[in-house]
Amino acid sequence: MYRTNTCGELRLSHVGQTVTLAGWVQRTRKMGGMTFVDLRDRYGITQLVFDESRDADLTARANKLGREFCIQAVGAVSERSNKNPNMPTGDIEIIVSGLTVLSTSDTPPFTIEDNTDGGDELRMKYRYLDLRRSAVRKNLELRHRMTILVRNFLDSRDFIEVETPILVGSTPEGARDFVVPSRMNPGQFYALPQSPQTLKQLLMVSGFDRYFQIAKCFRDEDLRADRQPEFTQIDCEMSFVHQEDVLEVFEDMARYLFKEVRGVELPAKLRQMTWHEAMRLYGSDKPDLRFGMTFVELMDVMKKGKFAVFDDAAYIGAICAPGCAAYTRKQLDQLTEFVKRPQVGAKGLVYVKYNEDGTIKSSVDKFYSQEDLLELKQKMGARDGDLVLILSGDNANKTRIQLCALRLEMGERLGLRDSNKFECLWIVDFPLFEWSDEEQRLMATHHPFTLPNPDDIPLLDEHPEQVRAVAYDFVCNGIEVGGGSLRIHDGALQEKMFKILGFTPERAMAQFGFLINAFKYGAPPHAGLAFGLDRFVSIMAGLDSIRDCIAFPKNNSGRDVMLDAPSELEPGQLDELNLKVTL
Ligand code: AMO
Repeated sequence: MYRTNTCGELRLSHVGQTVTLAGWVQRTRKMGGMTFVDLRDRYGITQLVFDESRDADLTARANKLGREFCIQAVGAVSERSNKNPNMPTGDIEIIVSGLTVLSTSDTPPFTIEDNTDGGDELRMKYRYLDLRRSAVRKNLELRHRMTILVRNFLDSRDFIEVETPILVGSTPEGARDFVVPSRMNPGQFYALPQSPQTLKQLLMVSGFDRYFQIAKCFRDEDLRADRQPEFTQIDCEMSFVHQEDVLEVFEDMARYLFKEVRGVELPAKLRQMTWHEAMRLYGSDKPDLRFGMTFVELMDVMKKGKFAVFDDAAYIGAICAPGCAAYTRKQLDQLTEFVKRPQVGAKGLVYVKYNEDGTIKSSVDKFYSQEDLLELKQKMGARDGDLVLILSGDNANKTRIQLCALRLEMGERLGLRDSNKFECLWIVDFPLFEWSDEEQRLMATHHPFTLPNPDDIPLLDEHPEQVRAVAYDFVCNGIEVGGGSLRIHDGALQEKMFKILGFTPERAMAQFGFLINAFKYGAPPHAGLAFGLDRFVSIMAGLDSIRDCIAFPKNNSGRDVMLDAPSELEPGQLDELNLKVTL
């Protein structure tokens, strides 16, 4: 037997037993004639003791152990005289009588400790060592646990897991596809699925009225902290349901996960907010409700023919930062710099300080009277001690998005974005289409299979931009964790959607003919959604980036620095695939 116990297991009740442990040397300490080795495995750390006076040879060998050597040790469990209350195994130690080095280790490129000295790139290059660190390992354990809980929950609700293919056809709506050349079909390409969307809809036509899949998805898009080119969805679809049925099932699932994983009770019914309200109050379709500072529109109080910037603006909005009137010049300059950053894109920031002593100081004192600023105070519901921050611009939604960035920044500065607090809600009534500046055409906000709100169908021809979708997002702490919709199951309406999206009937048929045809054979009304598993786990674990809950993630340039992928192909491989690289 390689081991009788794990390194996280032994307690006072084991004292006197002879055990065999196997693991990695976390560190060794020599104190007089004694050598202490912290032995680590997935389950914990146990202290090994080598006593020179009992066995000088053995202790001499222990002194030669290096960090991360993989060893096996046999010995007696003994009560420690110097207990360590910070370790689950801190009451005991092993008096070692036998030691085998299973393999030696080069000096690791960074310390395998919670607070490692390794930078990001280095840790990714040696990710297998990074994964030995308990902080990272715990995230993967949590991910495993959540996956099991999800499977159990959905199984208990009659969902069945069906695997859909990874080599599929290209669907250009949405993000860019990753493509795979086909050797057997020269000049032709598969695409990796951006999601199993159309396939799960076909499964509904097949009569699997409740489907799910823990599905790998691939999107060639710009990366951010909550985006990876390869990620995992908890992908679901249901037949014969209305929106409320879908929201109920997945609210139950979220409630179950929060309770099981974090011991947190979500409210009996989650709040639903329309997309318009979310944009109006938070400038975002994924508002962070852990704190207030909702937007107040100031078109009426600030447009007074006194300050040209505001007079010319299509939108003026503000937030009230409680207790921030004492912000220094430097802090205000930092905020101005923040909103002017290219990522935010505002031209400037106006502030009004309502000081504790009742005085008012603002960056627009020379334009507005004290009465004007008192009117503003009332409109904002501001109190003495508060700071009002105002942005304006010529495009209402763009300015709202800028104000949203400022609101989140203030939330961060005031410590209001506590990762141990969870505020979940549904965003509903998304617009069906959004205008793409890049493509100069309407694009599906969600995807082309989303059902238009039946009340808005008359608007489809003349005012498609006003049509609401029967679509919903699950948002937690300002992150879109999941999204879905009711689907079109009527072939004629689906064809109309493709037309509005600029598809010729031929192109629609070439790309989605399989779905249009399937809908000719008794398609049931259906709906679904997908949660991002990576995002769900990272919220539960309070992580800043989803990378930390993925075993082998890509870096911000989409590279796997450990595997050195992507990489060039051998010329022979290119020939076989009939490919030529023209770089
Ligand atoms: P959507 O595109 O909204 O919907 O994706 C669903 C969820 O997947 C997660 N997600 C991502 N996670 C990490 N990295 C990414 N690049 C990434 N992109 C998306 C998000 C998101 O909420 N087929 C539809 C779902 C449906 O209608 O049923 C879909 O894919 O958490």
